[in-house]
Amino acid sequence: MKILAIESSCDETAVAILEGKGKKIKILANVVSSQIAIHQKYGGVVPEIAAREHILNIIPVINEALVLAKINKHEAPKKIKAIAVTAGPGLITSLMMGVETAKTLAFAWNLPIIAVNHIEGHIHAAWLATKTPELPAIALTVSGGHNMIVEIKSSLKYKIIGDTRDDAAGEAFDKAAKILGLGYPGGPAIAKAALKADKNKLATKKINLPRPMLNDPSSDFSFSGLKTALFYAIKKDKAWSKFIPEYAYEFEQAVADTLTRKVVKAAQRTNAKTILLVGGVSANLVLRQKLKKTIEEKLPKTTFIVPPFEYTTDNAAMIAVAGYFKFLNNQTFSWQKLTANPNLTLK
Ligand code: KG4
Ligand code: ZN
Repeated sequence: MKILAIESSCDETAVAILEGKGKKIKILANVVSSQIAIHQKYGGVVPEIAAREHILNIIPVINEALVLAKINKHEAPKKIKAIAVTAGPGLITSLMMGVETAKTLAFAWNLPIIAVNHIEGHIHAAWLATKTPELPAIALTVSGGHNMIVEIKSSLKYKIIGDTRDDAAGEAFDKAAKILGLGYPGGPAIAKAALKADKNKLATKKINLPRPMLNDPSSDFSFSGLKTALFYAIKKDKAWSKFIPEYAYEFEQAVADTLTRKVVKAAQRTNAKTILLVGGVSANLVLRQKLKKTIEEKLPKTTFIVPPFEYTTDNAAMIAVAGYFKFLNNQTFSWQKLTANPNLTLK
């Protein structure tokens, strides 16, 4: 059976088509129309512009996905069994574009709707990796809008055991990049700058940023102070602009160290069989490597799974996977009952 999925919670208009047979899933199309270039000049996402762009992009993106999946438009109502869509959390005007489109398609094609939580979607990107996650699992979901440790004891059942008390890691990357004049989005910009860090300069400069909340017994995070520490460090340093790669390096290390230590502790506490690293920040190579190495050392029996790069930042394939599992679990309803919820919580 095939599912068409829509994701529009922030600045990516995305549509995917998944084919599922029992536990086997295959992505037939994964189209993402990114608005990064448009928002870049404002240094972040402008909600009104994002919503307007979604309106322009959504139909062409659906058409492209149908072509890639080799589904003739007129046959779509027969070939597709359900419409999955991100219902929240996210920017309300952005979410509404995807939700209204999904409702219209479900009405016109007479199909059931599956509402997917955006974070639940990110978690399910892990099911697109080569290894299938075994439960119970611990998921570190890190992106621009969220930063959680989620325990998954059985399919589609989530328990949030850690959250950020202020900024998410991706948000911290974005703000740090702004401080260092590196542009938007900050995660890839910091990672690129950090690659140019000079070992000698690092040794002599001794930039020391904090690893927040490591001594706190909870699984919570707090990245706002780390960003402020960077701000004051460069304010005190008249020559800071000559050390941008070194500051970026230390910032990236501080975020990766903190996330790694917290998620490994949570996995130890909960006896997780698998650790999943998902969300936009999971594209970060330093974090991937650090977490992989720490798991190999401290939890050699635990499997580490991270999705392929194209499923790390916002996409609709991850929504399609979560949607497919929810379909199998009879979590579908009629289009009249669907509303976008910017504050949707993970349950
Ligand atoms: O999942 P996502 O596309 O959107 C949200 O749900 O928020 O994540 C976007 C976030 C941004 O904050 C961006 O800076 C961060 O993911 N990001 C990265 C990398 N690529 C994207 N952070 C660190 N390193 C990266 N390579
Ligand atoms: Zn996301």
